[in-house]
Amino acid sequence: MTTTAPATRPANPRFSSGPCAKIPTFTLEKLADAALGRSHRAKIGKDKLKAAIEETRELLNIPADYRIGIVPASDTGAVEMAMWSLLGARKATMVAWESFGAGWVTDVVKQLKIDAEVKIAEYGEIVDMAALDYKTDVVFTWNGTTSGVRMPSGDAIPADREGLTICDATSAAYAMDLPWDKLDVTTFSWQKVLGGEAAHGMLILSPRAVERLESYTPAWPLPKIFRLTKGGKLIEGIFVGETINTPSMLAVEDYLVALDWARSVGGLKGLIARADANAKAIWDFCAARDWIDNLAVDAATRSNTSVCLKFTDARITDGPVFAKAVAKRLEAEGVALDVGAYRDAPAGLRIWCGGTVETSDVEAMLPWLEYAFHAEIEALSQAA
Ligand SMILES: Cc1ncc(COP(=O)(O)O)c(C=O)c1O
Repeated sequence: MTTTAPATRPANPRFSSGPCAKIPTFTLEKLADAALGRSHRAKIGKDKLKAAIEETRELLNIPADYRIGIVPASDTGAVEMAMWSLLGARKATMVAWESFGAGWVTDVVKQLKIDAEVKIAEYGEIVDMAALDYKTDVVFTWNGTTSGVRMPSGDAIPADREGLTICDATSAAYAMDLPWDKLDVTTFSWQKVLGGEAAHGMLILSPRAVERLESYTPAWPLPKIFRLTKGGKLIEGIFVGETINTPSMLAVEDYLVALDWARSVGGLKGLIARADANAKAIWDFCAARDWIDNLAVDAATRSNTSVCLKFTDARITDGPVFAKAVAKRLEAEGVALDVGAYRDAPAGLRIWCGGTVETSDVEAMLPWLEYAFHAEIEALSQAA
């Protein structure tokens, strides 16, 4: 086996799963129009916040009667706000197949302490979504960022459910088709697929979610930062850009610039095609080798954004040490940054393939992965 370093390097070695690579055309000058030093309640600020909402609707094909709000604290803020505001009216089903989903389970079971059924699948597997009780409120993560396992579609979710579906879609939005009729609450952060900044979360509510907000008051107190209603009515301002507290207008500008780029590559369809092409380059690479494989067991559930891989070579004695050494070597060579598996996930690599990543960079990185693997195997045999 050759351990000669490849001749070419990716132009951009950023394959982090968040914050993700910025748009390929990014420069700081592109943010020159940011409404800096101005009130976010002034017309200029409000117009930009409103544009961020309406352009999100247009790009993601979100129905006109769904509310879209910009909320504090990135995706986590949006998910927590939804769970604290909506859960408790009926039993909940908490679904997880990796670390972030598991975090939402902990919040509901240990913090909110509401009546909840917990459904967990191991890393690489997915929970049987068709077997859930949709009379309950179901909380799940569309794409498990730390296992690279995603929902293949929304077909398992009934259209006539009684409970609400609350979906953390942060590593799915702008890379996968989201079936809005099956989702009552959807959240994501700008820092993921569009390579934006992590300041704010997007909270998308179906009419049924709004109905719940206006007809149910949780038994627990809600801090101002979570409050979506006043006097039993939805605070409509939040959904036209009157944010609860002060947003970063620099982050807003950056999101608007990213949306503009997203339109230039063909909108949602173009973004999905870019992520698919990136992921396919890695899947094909794995299929042609017997030492590396997808962590996702079922091909239909393989993520096209957070592609998670495991090493399967029998010569590897300590999986975590080996995977970390490969990731470190790739980083040291400057060809793939931040590609080690998430700290709670099984040993391996996680390579971000969302639309801001260029397929030519994935293709230029893969020979380096081959090189790093063989170099580490050689190091093992020398140590033996
Ligand atoms: C599925 C999922 N949920 C939540 C988060 C947390 O996102 P944030 O740090 O933007 O709040 C992440 C971050 O990677 C994630 O992948």
